[in-house]
Amino acid sequence: MSKYDIAWQVMISEEEIQKRTRELAQAVDRDYVGQDIVLVCNLKGAFVFLADFCRELTTLHEVDFIATSSYKGTTASSGVVRIVKDLKADIDGRHVLIVEDIIDSGLTLDYVCRYLRLHNPASIRIVTLLDKKEARKVEIEADYVGFEIPDKFVLGYGLDFFEHYRNLKFIAEYKGPE
Ligand code: IMP
Ligand code: MG
Repeated sequence: MSKYDIAWQVMISEEEIQKRTRELAQAVDRDYVGQDIVLVCNLKGAFVFLADFCRELTTLHEVDFIATSSYKGTTASSGVVRIVKDLKADIDGRHVLIVEDIIDSGLTLDYVCRYLRLHNPASIRIVTLLDKKEARKVEIEADYVGFEIPDKFVLGYGLDFFEHYRNLKFIAEYKGPE
């Protein structure tokens, strides 16, 4: 028995995620015809979505990672964002597509966008698998959204509950300690 042994309920199935991921990749493909883009994955949560999303994408692209920290192991946003791993790619003059797992308060993305802009990309767009629109604290919109979800804590498919459950093949809603 572990303290991470919690109750959860499936919110978005593996099949729904796969179908929507294909649709998002197709929409991106239509918008970037003939381009060579840079996918910037915001670790850790987005790594699972990135892996599936980039394999559905036919647009030529490079993959790079940035890591931010904001949650500090709680289920409520602290509002403090730090870059804990920097980009490696040179994005000067390139089209950047940020790959996110979820937009909650928007504070992380807002910070990341402002940071990336300092490197003079040709453009910055955002694709996010999940969007908790009601939880927004700053005005920021993704260009491509997989699913709008209510302001509930979710886990799985890259998203963690205290670093656990990232391996679930679906998105589940946290239902409290078992
Ligand atoms: P924001 O800065 O409040 O928009 O939070 C963004 C980050 O918080 C995401 O990239 C996730 O890593 C994390 N996060 C937000 N909501 C959830 C959730 O419901 N479950 C797990 N992680 C979350
Ligand atoms: Mg996280």
